[in-house]
Amino acid sequence: MPALTARGATCLGARGRLSPTFNNIINFKDFLMITVSDVSLSFSEKPLFKDVNLKFNKGNCYGITGANGAGKSTFLKLLSGELEKDSGQIFMTPGERMAVLKQDHFAFDQYSVKETVMMGFPKLYEVSKARDEIYAKADFTEEDGIKSAELEAEFGELGGYEAENEIEQMLSGLGLEEEFHDKMMSELDEGQKVRVLLAQAIYGNPDALLLDEPTNGLDIESITWLENFLLDFENTVIVVSHDRHFLNTVCTFICDIDFGKITQFSGNYDFWYQMTQIMQRQAHEQQKKTEDKMKDLKEFILRFSSNASKAKQATSRKKIYDKLADSLEEIPVSTRKFPYVNFKADREIGNNVLEIKKLNYTDADGNQLLKDFSLVVNRTDKIAFVGIEHNSVTALFDIINGVKKPDSGEFFWGQTTSQTYLPRDNSDSFNNDLNITEWLKQYSKEQDDAYVRGFLGRMLFSGDESLKKVKVLSGGEKVRCMLSKLMLSGANCITMDDPTNHLDLEAIQSLNEGLIAFPGVLLFSSHDHEFIQSIANRIVEITPNGIIDRMMSFDDYISDPQIAEMRKKLYEGTGKKIKYRV
Ligand SMILES: Nc1ncnc2c1ncn2[C@@H]1O[C@H](COP(=O)(O)OP(=O)(O)OP(=O)(O)O)[C@@H](O)[C@H]1O
Ligand SMILES: [Mg+2]
Repeated sequence: MPALTARGATCLGARGRLSPTFNNIINFKDFLMITVSDVSLSFSEKPLFKDVNLKFNKGNCYGITGANGAGKSTFLKLLSGELEKDSGQIFMTPGERMAVLKQDHFAFDQYSVKETVMMGFPKLYEVSKARDEIYAKADFTEEDGIKSAELEAEFGELGGYEAENEIEQMLSGLGLEEEFHDKMMSELDEGQKVRVLLAQAIYGNPDALLLDEPTNGLDIESITWLENFLLDFENTVIVVSHDRHFLNTVCTFICDIDFGKITQFSGNYDFWYQMTQIMQRQAHEQQKKTEDKMKDLKEFILRFSSNASKAKQATSRKKIYDKLADSLEEIPVSTRKFPYVNFKADREIGNNVLEIKKLNYTDADGNQLLKDFSLVVNRTDKIAFVGIEHNSVTALFDIINGVKKPDSGEFFWGQTTSQTYLPRDNSDSFNNDLNITEWLKQYSKEQDDAYVRGFLGRMLFSGDESLKKVKVLSGGEKVRCMLSKLMLSGANCITMDDPTNHLDLEAIQSLNEGLIAFPGVLLFSSHDHEFIQSIANRIVEITPNGIIDRMMSFDDYISDPQIAEMRKKLYEGTGKKIKYRV
């Protein structure tokens, strides 16, 4: 953070960031970091944004907001140079370095934690890999010997020998306990993954940190931790998020993507929201006034245009009318829209829903995720799985939906049941060359295009959109596709693992209402308190020493003193901090 002073006055805003109110009086030249001039981008002739002009100054935190598919991740890719713009310029102060934390938290699952962090310094990672490869060779030639000596020297120059220690210190500093440093990324929960990805991003101390939906999948404690980290981070932060509380806490500027533009506001999210509401109301009021006036003028013109004594007046009013008609601009339609989420069960569910008997499951690294887990699910149950054992919940959901096999134990779905599943990580479903309609058809008995597109239309994929390739879809669009698949299934038992991840506020609200109205059985996890409270009628918490299972709402569950006592006992001696998955 530069020490910003102007004429003796310290110009730091709350939380140590540059206060937006000083915009006008400081010469920002020295603090300018990234300038975006006249940038436009469209995909297949559909403009995402046009003529964008923005400035990002040193030390500030910018929130990038907008609906699912508005172009937030794309804009970050333009800033980082991963994607080429159609026109315009993006300048960054020479010598400054930018780092990115991407929206996909599962992308490094096949790498170890330390390897993932080292990838934040690509040159060092490259040399380190080449060095390991040579040493792994069975037939080590003389040539290999020379090459390895070269690589060794380069590795040393790049600080490779100190790297491991540095990485470990950084991970510990980011709150990832030592026991996780030698694990594979796939073994961590999402909160831990984000810490590793942050370590990767800040490895080498970047001047600008770009984060794409970092709070996805994080519980309240991890989000608070991330907020504090960003508040203390002294360089520029540009962060995409749908989380209002998070945006309000960390951002001093909002760049909103809508109406084919990106508009920058000084202030936090709530301030942006109030401003846009006022501006939209004013635009509508102004339009209404103009339309009323035109209506009066038109009546006058029609009544008196053939009246000789008033013809002159009618002609002059016609001129005014034409002028107003020219000034009347169509109010642009926002990309913020509510999808229509409606899960219909094809068949009414009988009394036997699901019986789970003594499931045991240990992951590849030897972590016992399920230990004699048993549960009987009833026909009116909407069960929220809460607690801190996220990987246990995911393993359970995977097992009962046939994705994984348990080590031992059994489960029986009732004869009248049919199941559908929204997993936490959906990336595998979209690694193909299909368009959205073809993709959804894979899951439909009815192969008629119009039928399938009906489901896509509800999820806001209309017209040409339904011919888009699934692999280019945004994070939220992929979840909307999955929701179309779930709706189309007509299943009466739905499992969802943290379904609000990636979704914008409108989609979360529609999904929330759709699940309240769903007449079947629901098993789900979520980090959204309101979502759990409004949907669940039963709460199950998997703890390291058994489960707690209560037919009650979430608010009742967390305020019940007996349950609090029970939780304390069940976590005792595990060294784990008790927190709820909200
Ligand atoms: N290569 C491409 N070809 C065509 N369309 C694309 C391509 N890449 C992205 N898109 C589309 O551009 C739009 C913006 O995508 P982007 O990922 O930037 O959205 P986003 O604002 O980050 O959304 P979310 O909140 O869901 O993450 C989406 O509609 C997406 O389908
Ligand atoms: Mg995105």
